[in-house]
Amino acid sequence: MAGIYIHIPYCRQACRYCDFHFVVSVWQKKELLPYMLREIEERKDYLMNEVIDTIYFGGGTPSVLEVKEIANILDCIYRFYPISSGVELSLEANPEDLKPEYLYELAKTGVNRLSIGIQSFQDSDLELMHRIHSGEQAGEAVKNAQNAGFDNISIDLIYGLPRQEKNVWQKNLDKALSLGIQHFSAYHLTYESGTVFDHWRKKGRIGLIPEEDSLNQFKILINTAKQQGFEHYEISNFALPGFQSKHNSSYWQQKKYLGIGPSAHSYNELSRRWNLSNHKRYIDAMSSAEDYFETETLSPENIYNEHVMTSLRTSKGVSYLYLKSRFGDQEAEHFRTAIEKFVKSGHVNVNQEIYSLTQEGIFIADHIIEVVFK
Ligand SMILES: C[S@@+](CC[C@H](N)C(=O)[O-])C[C@H]1O[C@@H](n2cnc3c(N)ncnc32)[C@H](O)[C@@H]1O
Repeated sequence: MAGIYIHIPYCRQACRYCDFHFVVSVWQKKELLPYMLREIEERKDYLMNEVIDTIYFGGGTPSVLEVKEIANILDCIYRFYPISSGVELSLEANPEDLKPEYLYELAKTGVNRLSIGIQSFQDSDLELMHRIHSGEQAGEAVKNAQNAGFDNISIDLIYGLPRQEKNVWQKNLDKALSLGIQHFSAYHLTYESGTVFDHWRKKGRIGLIPEEDSLNQFKILINTAKQQGFEHYEISNFALPGFQSKHNSSYWQQKKYLGIGPSAHSYNELSRRWNLSNHKRYIDAMSSAEDYFETETLSPENIYNEHVMTSLRTSKGVSYLYLKSRFGDQEAEHFRTAIEKFVKSGHVNVNQEIYSLTQEGIFIADHIIEVVFK
């Protein structure tokens, strides 16, 4: 089983915290899309005819596409790849795009999971982040999607935001979980270099919230999610039973995937590939039959590092016996020795030789991962 990721690199407006690859010149999509269709066809052998069980439209903001553009991309995928009958077909969407007519048409394309970028239900946060939608529109978007028949809905939220009054994060979570969603992702704000927020932070206009507040917000997150029956299955991801994201889980389980479009990454167990992110260079290279991607062949060390990093971030953890059988005695021993001090300090749990982060461990996950790397 394998996955296909389609990167739609357009947004209607730039969020002040975001450094993902996107441009706001949405009208240019008409020029780019035929090249993406061509890439879907040209790379039909990349996944070696493995059955596709997840397709994911990410961005950017895929809901800037018209429904017929989404349908065209899907038709092209169905023409060249074997697709599982139970395929998880996700689309990232923003609240301002989710009007009833759009959603009813979208449901007919086979898209069966929506990931809605909400970030906050508070208008003051949304203005600060430079979002287009209001908190009220965000709630309406979820209801519109449910009325159109979508029963697998995820939302994205950001916590650790500056200038927020106390209890706003709890209010945001309560609002989110009152909407009858099946999944949500909650990310602590990071100040990414080159973003407006980073610039404002350097100028002292906004600042990092105190570490103690970050920890408190994280605790509120995991406790509220648990009380409402959500499984905390990856550091930033929460799902009702049966609703974990299959597509994202396949990244964490290092399954093969093909990434289409500018800046998209692909992985087929032997190598990683990433497409040029500059749209013009991507189009020009394709038109002149030049490489529109770069490739890195993965060493056993790279594969070990990726395995421990992605597995430690999930509740499944790292199995010592699996490490031994896949990477050999030396790597497995390296891992066991390196992680021991975190077991002793209570940051890592070990149960039948499976190592997973405790709540305290999640706070210092990046440090633990760095220590167990080869
Ligand atoms: C590339 S965005 C696209 C989602 C959607 N189009 C939107 O505008 O909300 C994917 C998610 O990453 C998260 N994200 C992006 N930059 C972030 C940052 N600097 N700190 C925390 N979360 C971030 C947001 O929650 C966002 O929904």
